[in-house]
Amino acid sequence: MVLASGAGSNLQALIDAVGDGRLDAEIVAVIVNRRSAFALQRAASNNIATAFFGLRPYLDDHDDPAQARRRYDADLAAMVLGYRPDLVVLAGWMHLFTMGFLEYFPGRVINLHPALPGEFGGPNAIDDAWNAHLRDGLDRTGVMVHLVPDEGVDNGPVLATEAVPITPDDDRESLESRIHAAEHGLLVRAVADFLEGL
Ligand code: GRF
Repeated sequence: MVLASGAGSNLQALIDAVGDGRLDAEIVAVIVNRRSAFALQRAASNNIATAFFGLRPYLDDHDDPAQARRRYDADLAAMVLGYRPDLVVLAGWMHLFTMGFLEYFPGRVINLHPALPGEFGGPNAIDDAWNAHLRDGLDRTGVMVHLVPDEGVDNGPVLATEAVPITPDDDRESLESRIHAAEHGLLVRAVADFLEGL
């Protein structure tokens, strides 16, 4: 099961790896929280079940945003449980979960993040690394896959990492494309290792 919010290039890496036998898995469904997420088209064109599940109606129905998120998370958990996944992969899922979701999948939710452990948490990791390069000469960043046990941001137990050098020839775009390429490989390997360990 893959949850995504955006372009879905990491979803595509998983789809390709299943297709050519590098990953012995079935992607039982893809859920997106943005209607425009291209991940939705990628899943549909590969005959994977899809669902759009947006937060907006929950925010409109509740005065308290925290309560809206808890209700959203509980309803999303019920939807995900319906697919009986072995693993829930957050592949560019731009939403922080409460325990109202996570408690249903202990040790079974993994997240991909475009930075190394303990560095540049949050949604602007690539910009933050690039700015650190310009400001302080940072010469490497990286990517990681980690478990999501609780509501911490990009800081659960680490499953896999890969360093990505920042070279004098880089600009922001070249760095970003190498980070994404590293993510695609790392995510496939981490999912394969996780499933093998079950
Ligand atoms: C990736 O960089 C991921 O690490 C981050 O969001 C991006 C998603 O890219 N959380 P895509 O939608 O898989 O192309």
